Amino acid sequence: SKVVAVVPAAGVGSRMQADRPKQYLTIGDQTILEHTLLKLAAHPDITRVIVALSPGDDYFSTLAVSNAPWLTTVNGGDSRADSVRNALSTLADDEWALVHDAARPCVNHDDLDQLIAMTRRPGFGGAILATPVRDTMKRALSGATAQPVVAHTENRDNLWHALTPQLFPAQALLQAIDSALAAGVTVTDEASAMEFAGHQVMLLDSDPANIKITRPADLPLARFYLQQSLM
Ligand code: C5P
Repeated sequence: SKVVAVVPAAGVGSRMQADRPKQYLTIGDQTILEHTLLKLAAHPDITRVIVALSPGDDYFSTLAVSNAPWLTTVNGGDSRADSVRNALSTLADDEWALVHDAARPCVNHDDLDQLIAMTRRPGFGGAILATPVRDTMKRALSGATAQPVVAHTENRDNLWHALTPQLFPAQALLQAIDSALAAGVTVTDEASAMEFAGHQVMLLDSDPANIKITRPADLPLARFYLQQSLM
């Protein structure tokens, strides 16, 4: 079956403290978004890529990649989940949606391949790239205070970081996001909607270098990881 990449890129990236949305900052001679899109399009099983953009986006049309034949755009929404659902509503019944953050240009080919290969397994219903938590995890007492204090230590066993891409049947994912949003559930990734709808989600252990560029210090780190992958 067909795998379509969905790239939410409609965020403003306020935590980057930059003069433009973070996906348009450059690493080498390409923007973060271009690195991400070209990584996805390089996979032989990804037939097309849909990018969700902010309706006021002035940057995308200036990129060389914007005219690529495998690429289409949709308007993003107020939240990441809304942006993803706008893209999913353009997909066909037999398509798989591989949803990947614009802000994760360092995803590597082998992990992309490990995820897409799952669609050839009988009965497969969905999976995400993930990496086990390494640090000891503290839950702080709730309520914003100047100095957070520990309520308790979470059990680190079986605790994972959810990364992207996340791969699900497109229509099942669309329905899951709609029902999760309608129920007021916080949908920070696709898996959270699928879990809410009662679907099983597989965790694929993958490279933690697949960081989401969020804060200024992440940019040199991403540059380093991208250079490593070219050597
Ligand atoms: O802000 P955060 O890092 O969680 O965003 C994750 C991804 O979702 C980014 O690629 C961002 O551009 C995208 N996003 C979106 N629409 C929004 C908010 C975020 O497509 N309304």
